[in-house]
Amino acid sequence: MSDRKWWHGATGYQIYPRSFADSNGDGIGDIPGIISRLDHLEDLGIGFVWLSPVYASPMADNGYDISDYEAIAPEFGTMADFEWLVSEARARGIGIVMDLVVNHTSDKHAWFKAAKRTPGSNMHDFYVWRAPGLDGGPPDDQQACFGGSAWHFVPALGKYYFGYFSAAQPDLNWQNPALRAEIYAMMNRWYDRGIAGFRMDVISLIGKDIDARQHEEGPYLHKFLQEMTRETAAGRDIVTVGESWSVSTDTALLYCGRNRGELDMVFQFAHVKEGWDEDRGKYHPKPFDLVAFKKVFNEWQAALSEDGWNSLFLTNHDLPRHVSRYGNDGEYRVRSARAWATVLHLMKGTPFVYQGEEIGMTNIEFSRIEDFRDIETLGHYMEQMEKGVPFEEFLAGANANGRDNARTPMQWDAGQRAGFTTGDPWIAINPNHDTVNAASDKEDSNGVFQHYQRLIALRKSEAVVVDGRYTPFLKDHPTVWAYTRSLNGQRLAVIANLSDESTSLETPEDLHIEGGAVSWSISPRTEIGDRIDLEPWEAIAVLDGEFARVS
Ligand code: GLC
Ligand code: CA
Repeated sequence: MSDRKWWHGATGYQIYPRSFADSNGDGIGDIPGIISRLDHLEDLGIGFVWLSPVYASPMADNGYDISDYEAIAPEFGTMADFEWLVSEARARGIGIVMDLVVNHTSDKHAWFKAAKRTPGSNMHDFYVWRAPGLDGGPPDDQQACFGGSAWHFVPALGKYYFGYFSAAQPDLNWQNPALRAEIYAMMNRWYDRGIAGFRMDVISLIGKDIDARQHEEGPYLHKFLQEMTRETAAGRDIVTVGESWSVSTDTALLYCGRNRGELDMVFQFAHVKEGWDEDRGKYHPKPFDLVAFKKVFNEWQAALSEDGWNSLFLTNHDLPRHVSRYGNDGEYRVRSARAWATVLHLMKGTPFVYQGEEIGMTNIEFSRIEDFRDIETLGHYMEQMEKGVPFEEFLAGANANGRDNARTPMQWDAGQRAGFTTGDPWIAINPNHDTVNAASDKEDSNGVFQHYQRLIALRKSEAVVVDGRYTPFLKDHPTVWAYTRSLNGQRLAVIANLSDESTSLETPEDLHIEGGAVSWSISPRTEIGDRIDLEPWEAIAVLDGEFARVS
């Protein structure tokens, strides 16, 4: 592929800084802590880190509420620490991708303070204001994602501002060209500090038309993304990934088509939302349906096969741990973590590992409201209690799909505080760290970490993993995922039993393969024939013998 970029063959790793590694015992992860653990990432073989926000912030939404784009939050470190991180990571061949949160700022940002103080000022128009409705209440009934009205009253002005997530996160007014210029200049300063790109928070919201109530993928979105790329990314060898909860296979290429001049990839959530109850939403997960889940991935693989590029992920800081959601976090924890990794990492796209997934971390179970920290979960709690929903029902939903599941501290070792901190952690550490931890897992050649290592290495050594055409098989099989990748006569075949039961099945001819060395690195089996017996959570990947090569 002539227009191959470094990130096509790289694997990303997301760090949620608050929960990764605490260097000074205040219970909060920080940048020096990250630096002290860079060897772990180098061992894993990743090419870049997506660093969740480390900017100055009152932390209403753990940094997704920025009060100063040009400063580091003191609890995370200093700008000097950040620059040290960039250079230490670079020395290990790892780029740092920052989180760009520009749909909104914090209500403590200097722009918003000025906007509130001086209604006639330029900065007033950096945000979205409306007069009260006829009854003196909010202008309309638009709701905030984290609960309550999306309109927030400022008594001194007699006006409301729009905060689509919460009152602490006022939306920026992208219609204002001076605001856009400020954002682009800020992005360029970060690029000049040597970062490898941006992951763009809820970027599909920036083109919104609030009065038309069109938030996602509004009429101005692609115009703004094209302008942003022209003004910031053009000519730089960086990667951009935009988060979009609404993007579909119909709109994906509008963002990441080769000639669009917008983004390199999108994070799409069709597979995640597939698991939610259509009417009642994320806190009411449906039983896992592999056929529907495969269909989403198969469609995305097809939609971006010639143009655009997929991002591949099963979890992040907003989602439950995927071993708990889609695997088995009890008896088959390690096997199910390995099987899901095999299926995901051998698809076409850039895989993202969320901190802890490489050692098979699981959801936590909370029993009291005091245990939860997440603004979204707490907002949901208030709403549910007002509606008279029983606490147990709220709790079941929050434990199943709440964002705190992914945010409990990284489990480095079996020590009392999991090697994360010497102090009181800001959120509870999962008690299973006595058995689920990096120190013990990394030693185990049948563990999760070494399996991720092998998959990541395979992507680097085998072009077919990067560029091969994806062909799905057994689409309607309820527990088995099977596909091939092919490139210039080279083939890779993958088959995985994603269930607790052994299964025996006939396989289609085009899936048959006889291979060599790659298979032993992923599983001890080297062929897929007419019939195959698969153990619970067994995943096999076989590369054509002739080409087989393991780095
Ligand atoms: C994104 C982030 C999430 C945050 C929200 C508002 O979805 O991933 O953590 O709460 O945007 O910034
Ligand atoms: Ca700290």
